[in-house]
Amino acid sequence: MKRLMTKLGAMLDLTPRETWRLARGRLPLVPKGPGWTANDLLNSVKHRHGIRFAELLMRQEAILTREVGWEPLNFEDANVVEIGCGPLAGYGPLAIFRGARSFVSAEPEWDADLFRDASVAERYFRVMHADLRALYGPRMSFDEFYNALMDRIEVYPVGFEAAEFETRPDIVLSQSCLEHVFPLEGTVRHLAKIQKPDTWFLHLVDFGNHRLSHNPFDGLYERPPEDYIAERGKAMNMLRVSDVQELLEASNIRAHVVPSRVIRESFRGRIHPWWSGRYDDAALYTQLAIVAGPAV
Ligand SMILES: C[S@@+](CC[C@H](N)C(=O)[O-])C[C@H]1O[C@@H](n2cnc3c(N)ncnc32)[C@H](O)[C@@H]1O
Repeated sequence: MKRLMTKLGAMLDLTPRETWRLARGRLPLVPKGPGWTANDLLNSVKHRHGIRFAELLMRQEAILTREVGWEPLNFEDANVVEIGCGPLAGYGPLAIFRGARSFVSAEPEWDADLFRDASVAERYFRVMHADLRALYGPRMSFDEFYNALMDRIEVYPVGFEAAEFETRPDIVLSQSCLEHVFPLEGTVRHLAKIQKPDTWFLHLVDFGNHRLSHNPFDGLYERPPEDYIAERGKAMNMLRVSDVQELLEASNIRAHVVPSRVIRESFRGRIHPWWSGRYDDAALYTQLAIVAGPAV
């Protein structure tokens, strides 16, 4: 088993432990087991790169500016909410550094001790602080930054649909999360309930297979989604971009839905009639989409 994990990990650019964690989440009969450790996160190519959230935001905002004339988000004094921030508070440190009054997230896998771990402070937040200063200017010292993170970031260890927020948010964010939420209807209804008409929101949704494969949809359309989920576990809800758009419309959330990666040509797989009967090519081959608003 260890050799298999090491081999799989090398393919996916992950440590054996990270690969095991990923596999455990996907296999229906394997118990979930303990979550992340600080060491896992600090050795993860993805998770140790905290400035990734600034890079993602800049990329998504650049696309939105070109497509819909989007103005960059203003975090100054804002109450910010993130759906599923992940183990190190996702967009939280960026929001706080850029002046947010509060950052609240709902993340079912949240571990507060991990967030406060001394090695995470030194090897993750200190590096991120240096990167944020280089990008946005010397707004605060490391100690001020770290204290602000500890004071002003709050994460509820529950699903977003169950989270009660004290303040209605000025900004709502999520990154590669909405495709993992079951059922997405509940989350969208909750968004509609907590958002104000002028709440800014920006969600990146990844509709691909979440594997390193030739085409991002390899293996995804060979059987109906219930069969895929039954085999691989409840990792992805299998909704397509058109479903997300319909859910938003049903909850009266006016949003721009901007495909930001569409890949048709390299797909060589079989498509089960369940999929071809319901979706056009635009829906089938949109891997990444940005859902942003308010759209007026
Ligand atoms: C692929 S991870 C992305 C994490 C983080 N946004 C990032 O980019 O690193 C998806 C996250 O969604 C979270 N999640 C799943 N269901 C959720 C729900 N109902 N409400 C909030 N978060 C949820 C998972 O716990 C997981 O951390």
